[in-house]
Amino acid sequence: MSEPSAHRRDILVTSALPYANGPIHLGHLLEYIQSDIWVRYQKLRGENCHYVCADDAHGTAIMLRAEREGITPEQLISRIQAEHERDFAGFLVEFDNYYSTHSEENRELSSYIYQKLRDRGHIATRSITQAYDPEKGMFLADRFIKGTCPRCRTPDQYGDNCEACGATYTPMELIEPRSALSGATPEERESEHFFFTLPDFADFLREWTNSGALQPGMANKLAEWLDAGLHDWDISRDAPYFGFEIPDSPGKYFYVWVDAPVGYLASFQNLCNQRGDIDFDHYWREDSTAEVYHFIGKDIVNFHALFWPAMLKTAGFRTPTAINCHGFVTVNGQKMSKSRGTFIMARTYLDHLHPEYLRYYFAAKLTAGVDDMDLNLDDFVQKVNSDLVGKVVNIASRSAGFITKQFDGHLGSEITEPERLKEFTDAAEEIAGYYEEREIGRAMKRVMELADRANQYVDEQKPWVLAKDETTRDQVQAISTNALNMFRILMTYLAPVLPETARNAEAFLNTSLDWRRLEDHLLDHGINKFKPLMKRIDSKQIEAMLEASKEDVAQDQQTTQQPAQSQKETPDVEPIAEQIEFDDFTKVDLRVAKIENAEHVEGADKLLKLTLDIGAEQRQVFAGIKTAYAPEDLIGRLTVMVANLKPRKMKFGVSEGMVLAAGPGGEDIWLLAPDSGATPGLRVM
Ligand code: MSP
Ligand code: ZN
Repeated sequence: MSEPSAHRRDILVTSALPYANGPIHLGHLLEYIQSDIWVRYQKLRGENCHYVCADDAHGTAIMLRAEREGITPEQLISRIQAEHERDFAGFLVEFDNYYSTHSEENRELSSYIYQKLRDRGHIATRSITQAYDPEKGMFLADRFIKGTCPRCRTPDQYGDNCEACGATYTPMELIEPRSALSGATPEERESEHFFFTLPDFADFLREWTNSGALQPGMANKLAEWLDAGLHDWDISRDAPYFGFEIPDSPGKYFYVWVDAPVGYLASFQNLCNQRGDIDFDHYWREDSTAEVYHFIGKDIVNFHALFWPAMLKTAGFRTPTAINCHGFVTVNGQKMSKSRGTFIMARTYLDHLHPEYLRYYFAAKLTAGVDDMDLNLDDFVQKVNSDLVGKVVNIASRSAGFITKQFDGHLGSEITEPERLKEFTDAAEEIAGYYEEREIGRAMKRVMELADRANQYVDEQKPWVLAKDETTRDQVQAISTNALNMFRILMTYLAPVLPETARNAEAFLNTSLDWRRLEDHLLDHGINKFKPLMKRIDSKQIEAMLEASKEDVAQDQQTTQQPAQSQKETPDVEPIAEQIEFDDFTKVDLRVAKIENAEHVEGADKLLKLTLDIGAEQRQVFAGIKTAYAPEDLIGRLTVMVANLKPRKMKFGVSEGMVLAAGPGGEDIWLLAPDSGATPGLRVM
């Protein structure tokens, strides 16, 4: 068969650009795995498909984190980008280009688009009054201000709403407002801001959001927003800010969400520059016939379906073919939680489990809709073991032995069950349709039905019985040849989801899996020795991963590492947890503890091992305070510890309690002073 001559589709795919101030976790991975599967499918079908992404490197959170770590933002973002790229590669997510929004291409494209918006009259300037931290010398977003609620007087509330009574207010209405960064009392200051006048685009957006570029649920949501009326969008931030300076406006920077989506263009531009054979304009000019798809989470649809199309249109670029939204990942039915160990980092998962298990599980549950997706860990183990190991790989493992041992690795010269094989090849277009429509779960279901059919066939034929009799030997070869050809077709269908196993299957079958040659069965063909293609998951691996995730958190809590979600211009301060009853509080047994000994822990960069004297007994506790204290500075000091915390097994040993510390992290972690004169074991209340 020759290459199909039909015109190949030109497709550009993007995934949302992850923030460069936190690690990739399993929630993120739903999106990158979904897009990667779709891209691999397009490429396997022979389409001309490019997949680009980048780190989203700008904004206040990144600037402050770098400052806390005592490094430049550039150093921080390049370290995080390397971690992100390593994690994506670990999950077999294969970008054609992975770039950064902090790039020259992006600076130029962002400035270009901004100038078009301005020249076409869609930028307004006006002065706004905002809270300003005189100590830090910067304006404060609402979430960086804390104080007492003016309505119910609950202390320590954020600048926009009260978590106790639900009141909403402006930060300056708080009683005794304080900067969450410096503790200083914020002042009101005026400054000039630039606004993108989005209401100019109401008609265009109403039409565009109804043009089929959005899933029905998302289109409805946008219709609600459009009905409620659009507002001007504040696109500037004052120095100090880590980002791009606005052209001709010294001291004014683009708000991170302006140059973030432009990062899609910039990453693609950078790919075109590297490659030479892809034409940027062919994909992005107004009348482009190429297809452009953005895969994103439903939380950021406003940026992608309102601001972004309006920016593109004004600047003379085409708008996206579609914005493919997905829902949010929960683990065991609940929001990912640090204390339950279900806030699982990509790296922690990879330390314990093969990436294709998760790729398959997500694939099996993915639809084209925006429903949240639950990663139920028992179901995960059961489904992967039963579908991949028990069904698909089993077809090969039960047939390979006969061919290698009895037929010198040679397949028969004929498909003796053409009708059965036809059932497998006939499913191609149906399965392709599911992939194309992003109904990936349906594609997986269809493949598993066929895998059941293949196993039933072998069960009925009982080659292991026939193999004992010299006169039925030929039948054994024929059955195994049929079965291995079924396996080959199924692995071709699964290749977008299981790229590594597909590669290993190619090595075993001594062929290349090609969606366009499904009917070219392997006959009179030598195969290689079968090596197990996939191992069963042992639930101990899951337990170990959850345990390690709790450790990540323990290391995290008392140090500079912040959770990955604190990016939406919020300070790196964790929100106040759910309220507890006084009785819950009295359950916590706080004791004065004297640090008898402190030592480094081999292989831990944040933990110190402390031996604590609490009067009646000694405790060993691992504390994440190494960034602030050398062991010798600690010996002899007093601290406060939670004395009745259940002992916890950590990678480095058992931790029998927890030391309390204050401070933002890094070098600024404080324990009690040495001269406080308290007696070890004293109950603190
Ligand atoms: N930097 C912005 C995107 C800019 S795109 C021009 C951002 N970054 S993010 O790191 O917070 O999220 C990246 C993607 O991961 C988003 O599409 C987001 O919806 C998705 N997810 C983050 N947590 C998720 C879950 N728990 N579940 C599913 N997707 C989630 O937003
Ligand atoms: Zn209140």
